Amino acid sequence: MALQLGDTVPNFTQDSTEGPIDFYEYAGDSWVILFSHPKDFTPVCTTELGAVAKLKPEFEKRNVKVIGLSVDPVDSHKGWIRDIEETQATRINFPILADADRKVSDLYGMIHMNEDNVFTVRTVFVVDPNRKLRLTITYPASTGRNFDEILRVIDSLQLTEFHKVATPVNWKEGEDVIILPSISDEEAQKLFPAGWKTLKPYMRVTAQPKT
Ligand code: BEZ
Repeated sequence: MALQLGDTVPNFTQDSTEGPIDFYEYAGDSWVILFSHPKDFTPVCTTELGAVAKLKPEFEKRNVKVIGLSVDPVDSHKGWIRDIEETQATRINFPILADADRKVSDLYGMIHMNEDNVFTVRTVFVVDPNRKLRLTITYPASTGRNFDEILRVIDSLQLTEFHKVATPVNWKEGEDVIILPSISDEEAQKLFPAGWKTLKPYMRVTAQPKT
């Protein structure tokens, strides 16, 4: 059965551009973004990997490690990285799994047989430090992902985790947030001493807590 939100993600060991990786060991106490690419030497993936490398400081600020995957061997990845660095003007600063035997792709359900029975689709898995799956997104091969949106969701997940708030539609960093409905007014007084606006008894809006 496909992995679902809240599931503990399975561990694996696989070869990568930075040597063999044990996923749980690599993750340590961090959040992780594991994202798959259909194939090496493809144009959309080339732009995505360059964009992720440039966002590395943003991921680090949030205690997030990134790890890519494609179903080609390490030698092929290394040749492709040269192209990525040349065309995207960056250095690839994270590992790319070489999943030629599809061990990880099969374990995580990254091959959708009715879409393509050989190559992985464009999936993203966000895993928290307890190894729980917190977000999964699947894009078609021809559409590049929006990694700013993935950062936005991580910010939202971490606000919920650390401050007991949810984020409304199209929320952006710095905008007002919503106190979790499961928090009583009594508890909210301790957590949000600066107060909140009650639009409805179930809808209490407050300034974004400092992250
Ligand atoms: C790409 O990554 O550029 C790509 C892969 C498969 C189909 C279309 C585009």
